[in-house]
Amino acid sequence: QQRRTLIAGNWKMNGSLSANSALLGELSGASIASACEVLVCVPFVYIPQCEVFLAKTQIAFGAQDVSPHQSGAYTGEISPAMLADFSCKYAIVGHSERRAYHHESNELVAQKALQSLRSNIYPIVCVGETLEQREAGKTNEVVVAQLQAVMDVLDEGALARIVVAYEPVWAIGTGKTATPEMAQDVHAVLRKTLAVRSDFAAEKVRILYGGSMKPENAKELLAMPDIDGGLIGGASLKAVDFLSIVAAA
Ligand code: G3H
Repeated sequence: QQRRTLIAGNWKMNGSLSANSALLGELSGASIASACEVLVCVPFVYIPQCEVFLAKTQIAFGAQDVSPHQSGAYTGEISPAMLADFSCKYAIVGHSERRAYHHESNELVAQKALQSLRSNIYPIVCVGETLEQREAGKTNEVVVAQLQAVMDVLDEGALARIVVAYEPVWAIGTGKTATPEMAQDVHAVLRKTLAVRSDFAAEKVRILYGGSMKPENAKELLAMPDIDGGLIGGASLKAVDFLSIVAAA
């Protein structure tokens, strides 16, 4: 497999200058195998802190959201170019918490992905079904529609530069994890969807699993052929847990 494993932490709305100093200090002091790419996605205001702390390390940092616009009268928004100003490399787009609490549509998420790439920020496009959708047998339909909206606005070259994160909503922060087989099935569907458009992109795009990934289950999830990394919430807030997921990769 040519895809480099990506272990990404999503701190969500957690942290403080002092707590982050401790966490980033522990992460940057650890020895990390270069086979694995390590990323932390932090609240916007802490991006400059990451730029300083992680400057001489292998650890990348990113944002948890981004504006679908490049500049202008969009009060409260942060553009992709602003993120690029601080050496930010990635932005999560379409996390299920934003889809649910901020009513983000597939089309809006697609615009965020498109605009990010224009500023050389790699979007991590999150997709995933709710428990109700899974029980109704709609998992594949839901995640394919979410990915398709992004594919519709990107050319082949741009598509090859995105990261996808499959995060079943019922597994986020609940302690319930999809089994490796359940996750693999959806990842395979997502890769097939990419391949309909471009074999090149399907080979290149990393598909991360997210949803209660922790040291105890990371290895078996990451062993699946179409799981190329993890998007880790709760367990990314403790250096020892996050680093042991990295070590499992
Ligand atoms: O972005 C991360 C996911 O929402 C997973 O969160 O690891 O706390 O379940 P979790």
